[in-house]
Amino acid sequence: MKITSDHFGVTPEGEEVSLFSLTNDQGMEVRITNYGGIITAINVPDRHGQPGDVVLGHETLERYLNRSRYFGALIGRYANRIAHRRFCLDGITYSLAKNNGENHLHGGLKGFDKVVWRPREIHASDTACLQLTYLSRDGEEGYPGNLETIVTYVLTNGNELRIEYFATTDQATIVNLTNHSYFNLACGGTVLDHQLTINAEAFTPVDKGLIPTGEIRNVRGTPLDFTSRTAIGERINDCYEQLRLACGYDHNFILRQKGETFRNAATVYEPATGRVLEISTTQPGMQFYSGNFLDGSIVGKGGRVYVKHSGCCFEPQHFPDSPNQPSFPTTVLRRGEQYRHTTSFKFSVE
Ligand code: GLA
Repeated sequence: MKITSDHFGVTPEGEEVSLFSLTNDQGMEVRITNYGGIITAINVPDRHGQPGDVVLGHETLERYLNRSRYFGALIGRYANRIAHRRFCLDGITYSLAKNNGENHLHGGLKGFDKVVWRPREIHASDTACLQLTYLSRDGEEGYPGNLETIVTYVLTNGNELRIEYFATTDQATIVNLTNHSYFNLACGGTVLDHQLTINAEAFTPVDKGLIPTGEIRNVRGTPLDFTSRTAIGERINDCYEQLRLACGYDHNFILRQKGETFRNAATVYEPATGRVLEISTTQPGMQFYSGNFLDGSIVGKGGRVYVKHSGCCFEPQHFPDSPNQPSFPTTVLRRGEQYRHTTSFKFSVE
């Protein structure tokens, strides 16, 4: 188990940023920068032992500053959308930054993906950990309360990257944290041949602004039924209104089993390389996004052009727009309470 760090660059505000490399005894390597808590690379072997980088991203800080679609980043204070950038809490209406049509997306104009986190390396015999801390001030992007957030990236010898989220506040607020890595287990091409299983019997349909309508719909008989292994591309162009609205998959799946137990949410298998990714979480939902807004305008690592469906995201989280949807599990965090969630990405071959 090893952690090393290098200088990665300087932000326009003059803050120094590092790039950390976590390596386990199997040779799996994860690179993370404390700018946005971004995972810049995950190198894992294929079925012949050949290592490859399975996430989209950039080689330089400058590219992340200017040409990113939340690649690999930590998302907060509220991941996903909040309708009309407004919510009401304890009788007070809060106005958030507007950055997605009329709506608020991924924490606003300068969300947790664009701030510099305080890093701490934690060396242990069986794990390599990077702990990142950020204090989001009362009023930042419109949110109430000073929110102290600690995210710990833990690499194990079982080729598992665990992300532990922790937060406390001094005043009632809303919190929904996730990571926005785009995976491509083939290390090239699109993800349309990746075979996906999602442990969800229902999803939350959206309107044209990708805001949940409040309906909970069974996946059975729809192209969103991934209860058995299905290629991502098999039904992505089906004539189904929800796919048309999102230009592919961009939906919150309601994970099986209630309560905050840690369990399997999804499994992805890439037939050509044999790579398998298992996603487990304590979160009630998972946004599955098939990289629909990638349009070839971003050139990433190794000069690769990121076209539509070049990567896909599995974002375990609370449901989008929960603060305005009384029937969804609550995202309110009060003074004295602790926000705790864990998500894991475990790699293997088949
Ligand atoms: C999330 C959203 C998508 C899109 C991407 C970023 O996954 O659900 O609609 O905004 O982030 O491009």
